[in-house]
Amino acid sequence: MHIFLTGVTGLLGSAFARAAKRRGHTITAVVHTAPLPVGVSVDRIIEGDLTDHKWVLREVLDVFPQALVNTAAISAPADCEANPENAQALNVGLPAQLAQLAHHLSAPLVHVSTDMVFDGERGNYAPTDAPAPANLYGWQKLEAEKAVVKAAPDFATVLRLTLLNGNTPGGRRSVHESLFASWARGEVPKLYTDEIRQPCLADNAAEVLVELCERDGFAGIRHWAGAERLSRWEIGRRILKHFNLPADLIEPVSRRDSPEGRKRPPDLTLDITTLRSKLKTRPQSFDEQLDPLVVPPPARDWYHSL
Ligand SMILES: NC(=O)c1ccc[n+]([C@@H]2O[C@H](COP(=O)([O-])OP(=O)(O)OC[C@H]3O[C@@H](n4cnc5c(N)ncnc54)[C@H](OP(=O)(O)O)[C@@H]3O)[C@@H](O)[C@H]2O)c1
Repeated sequence: MHIFLTGVTGLLGSAFARAAKRRGHTITAVVHTAPLPVGVSVDRIIEGDLTDHKWVLREVLDVFPQALVNTAAISAPADCEANPENAQALNVGLPAQLAQLAHHLSAPLVHVSTDMVFDGERGNYAPTDAPAPANLYGWQKLEAEKAVVKAAPDFATVLRLTLLNGNTPGGRRSVHESLFASWARGEVPKLYTDEIRQPCLADNAAEVLVELCERDGFAGIRHWAGAERLSRWEIGRRILKHFNLPADLIEPVSRRDSPEGRKRPPDLTLDITTLRSKLKTRPQSFDEQLDPLVVPPPARDWYHSL
């Protein structure tokens, strides 16, 4: 299958490219500012800005793909707040356009969304639960979901994912990498014991994306995550253990103890029952997710000096 992939240099997009190539698919991937990561190979690279609608239209019609996978996003809430117009164009305008193109081509589109369409007051959210985002990023992702489902109701799958683990090209993006960055700066991160997340390895989410491209019958909103619900503090504790680091490198705190903490969504866990029962890919325990994680390159000197 020939797949048009966006976000190939990101955490999830690079994992998708590796997974799809292992399954024998042909990939045309869009790169923007970052180079193709080491270890990722695709069949064709096109360079451009996905907020340029005319360019996207021309390139997609030129490729005429059999499936489209959209992992490109301004995915850090702070970056959305810093440049809302650019984030709106990428997080909402692009998926809306890709959905129109998917409908036109009668090709499946898998668009990635987030647990942050919920406010986290309840947790264990089902795909049918009413979203209520707590920040601009969540609002943009929700607006995109609605536009995608409206434009391509028969061809688009919106896959909501949770906090992603993995090794990123720059070594600063994912959960363990940002902890290592703090430790290398001599900090002891404060981690909430009452903020619950359901981390998922990007490679595992990528396997799900590949399955969703290959199989029919998954149009609509879907949820995927890891197998365990853990506090931020427990996530940090297990990462320390995995890398044989001392337990006092993190400090447990409560969300209730600070105004910033109280603003954060307490529980963004997802109910993944439906996909879990229908897909070959299995959700992973947190220990399984930790297995492939390496000490990020920017923190290696610090780690080896211990
Ligand atoms: N990371 C998480 O914990 C998490 C959790 C839940 C859901 N998600 C969702 O999963 C998806 C993937 O997230 P991620 O963490 O893999 O993102 P990421 O690592 O931040 O990657 C984002 C990608 O988008 C590309 N991009 C940004 N602006 C672009 C533009 N104007 N034109 C072309 N490409 C552009 C980036 O390329 P350049 O760097 O070259 O611009 C990069 O390849 C997103 O939809 C996100 O909302 C992520």
